[in-house]
Amino acid sequence: MTLPLDSSLQPGVSLVVTVDRLDRDGAGVAEVRAGAGLFRLHVAGALPGESARAKVMHVSTHAFAQGRDAWADLEEIVRVSPERVAPPCPAQHRCGGCPLANWAYAAQLEWKRGLVAKAIAAQEELARVPVTACAPSPRPFGYRANAKYVFGHDRDGKLVLGAYAPRSHEILDMSGCPIGEPALAEVAAALLTLLAQHAVAPFDEIRRTGLLRYVVLRANADGKVLVALVTGREIWPKGEALARELAAACPAVLGVVHNINGTAGNALFGEQEHLLFGSASIEDTIGPARVRLGPRSFSQANRLVAGRAYHDIVTAAARLGTINRVVDAYAGAGGIALALAPLAHEVVAIEENPAACATAQAFLAECGPGDPGARVRFVAGDVAEHLARVGSADLVVLNPPRRGCAMATIAAVAQLHPRLVAYLSCNPASLARDLAALARLGLPTVGITPYDMLAQTPHVEALALVAKD
Ligand SMILES: C[S@@+](CC[C@H](N)C(=O)[O-])C[C@H]1O[C@@H](n2cnc3c(N)ncnc32)[C@H](O)[C@@H]1O
Repeated sequence: MTLPLDSSLQPGVSLVVTVDRLDRDGAGVAEVRAGAGLFRLHVAGALPGESARAKVMHVSTHAFAQGRDAWADLEEIVRVSPERVAPPCPAQHRCGGCPLANWAYAAQLEWKRGLVAKAIAAQEELARVPVTACAPSPRPFGYRANAKYVFGHDRDGKLVLGAYAPRSHEILDMSGCPIGEPALAEVAAALLTLLAQHAVAPFDEIRRTGLLRYVVLRANADGKVLVALVTGREIWPKGEALARELAAACPAVLGVVHNINGTAGNALFGEQEHLLFGSASIEDTIGPARVRLGPRSFSQANRLVAGRAYHDIVTAAARLGTINRVVDAYAGAGGIALALAPLAHEVVAIEENPAACATAQAFLAECGPGDPGARVRFVAGDVAEHLARVGSADLVVLNPPRRGCAMATIAAVAQLHPRLVAYLSCNPASLARDLAALARLGLPTVGITPYDMLAQTPHVEALALVAKD
């Protein structure tokens, strides 16, 4: 799109643009020439191949090599993509949680494969690494096994379990969200009714008034749910009564935990926690693994897709023959360690979160001597530090957070002389960077599989298999 030479792209200008791709947040991107400049206009809600009328809201002051970024609000789709579908949620555009829900699922999968392939191709050490098709989520909706709600008032003053709207402090009601497993919505609705009956007030971080901040729910494959109620204050005399009433109203509730987080900022949980009702943890089956999760353990969002990735790691490991030692770095609740335990003499699982470690260790302590879980040793602490103490390993599994591995971790992996490294990642850019570093240390990548762990969102998971030269 070219604007007349004397015009410029200013906030408030409305124009029709043609979208040719999506940005990393899943918003449409159109190239716009205005005056002497080139602009990359981001239009949330517009799809590749569509023409859209959009109103410019913000123009970046920072220039990139060819021009500047600008953001516009979608006003009207002028030419509709044949891949556009009706999202099942009326709040899809306002909420921003699943920006791809208006795009045909096959197109989402192809785009996600492309994201991974592009990040990999950008590293010269990985130039010829094959990237397979993106493995779909068996359930494109209703797949999310955990939910985090903010407790507060929406813009109509209604008390809700919701989420913050993008770049704002407005709370959106999440009661109709189609992404979570059905058991979560059922428990959230029953809980909200009880919170109103008990006159529980939302915690106000500035004034330090009220009580409840967040609610975190985890569902397992049997439809049971673990509830964590995070308050800003410690004293909650009626907490146990409310938890009992919730369990009576909702048989899916397995346990209710009270976590206290009085700190300012974005941390979800505090360190102090006690049980209000039932069990303080929940067991789940993820592919070949049975795991136990506490409220603060990391848990994979999509059980079925994570299970498929775990299966693929086990299949690759089985090709190694005899396995003496496996290291599962960034182990979380130990799902991958437990999936690999039947194949190995010993599995060392390294995890820095003490609460997740304690839950996993208590679970493993219940294993009988013949149980493969008895071969898993959980170590609490930093991966880079503990890898250096392991000595050697046939197989190293890496599953770090978005930032990827520290360079010291990559060096320590190479020092273990593994025959196979299985690197499961939620960020193609840090994955590609770390795989290039491994390749330079004599550990080249042989293939990559993307997985659609978070369907309808711009996120993609990928498993890289790295084998010794
Ligand atoms: C993406 S999760 C992976 C969990 C697990 N592999 C699974 O499949 O559920 C990353 C985990 O790494 C842990 N972690 C992050 N940085 C770490 C570090 N430097 N050392 C040890 N663990 C770390 C986090 O606490 C989190 O549990």
